[in-house]
Amino acid sequence: MTTDLDAYWMPFTANRQFKKAPRLLSKASGMHFWTPEGREVLDGIAGLWCVNAGHARPKIVEAIRAQALELDFAPPFNMAHPKAFELAERLVELTPAGLNKVFYTNSGSESVDTALKMAIAYHRARGEGSRTRLIGRERGYHGVNFGGISVGGMVANRKMFGSLLTGVDHIRHTHDPARNAFSIGQPQHGAELADDLERLVALHDASTIAAVIVEPVAGSTGVLLPPQGYLERLRAICDKHGILLIFD
Ligand SMILES: Cc1ncc(COP(=O)(O)O)c(C=O)c1O
Repeated sequence: MTTDLDAYWMPFTANRQFKKAPRLLSKASGMHFWTPEGREVLDGIAGLWCVNAGHARPKIVEAIRAQALELDFAPPFNMAHPKAFELAERLVELTPAGLNKVFYTNSGSESVDTALKMAIAYHRARGEGSRTRLIGRERGYHGVNFGGISVGGMVANRKMFGSLLTGVDHIRHTHDPARNAFSIGQPQHGAELADDLERLVALHDASTIAAVIVEPVAGSTGVLLPPQGYLERLRAICDKHGILLIFD
């Protein structure tokens, strides 16, 4: 058990404050963590929304063990492991028709930057190389890489890092407590906020815009459900102008 907490520079954490009064978790099972002192803590957010099947599930533990024993790593460049294809096929069966290719990444941040790159490259490959602009949304969170913070809309994540990617603009966010404070499910007001994209098309011209990226349900500046009709309208405006719509 480490006693000096100095060397680990923690992400999204006030390091000096944390290290004065550390909250360490050293064990987990089912839906609980345990602190090093043995206090049981309910894991109300399933890790960071990534342990939804529960901690230390014997079936999962055994599968990880068996795989490490059989083959722990195979390079994915010009070589491959058969199970990577098998997983891709199974994912394609689960996703809606038309979503039929899988590209693996190591994180959400890497996924976002990959998707933005794919959008620009896609247009260029089709002979529309002028479509390089990327449109994000205020209050959006798309990870920590340069692409993601550029299209993201969280000020604290952006302000320290200079001019970020060029050619990025943002539509307005949909958080509207004045009209939607007491909504159940998707809020009633705000579909018209999608029209903000038309304003940016008028400003930049559609021929310069590669993609719009939004979180269908935003999760990092409050969990914000899309207003009724908003995503449908965004989809229609993107289709009208040949802009790709990326759901993160
Ligand atoms: C919508 C969205 N995009 C991207 C990310 C970044 O994912 P990661 O932390 O795996 O890099 C997150 C993470 O919470 C997210 O909520």
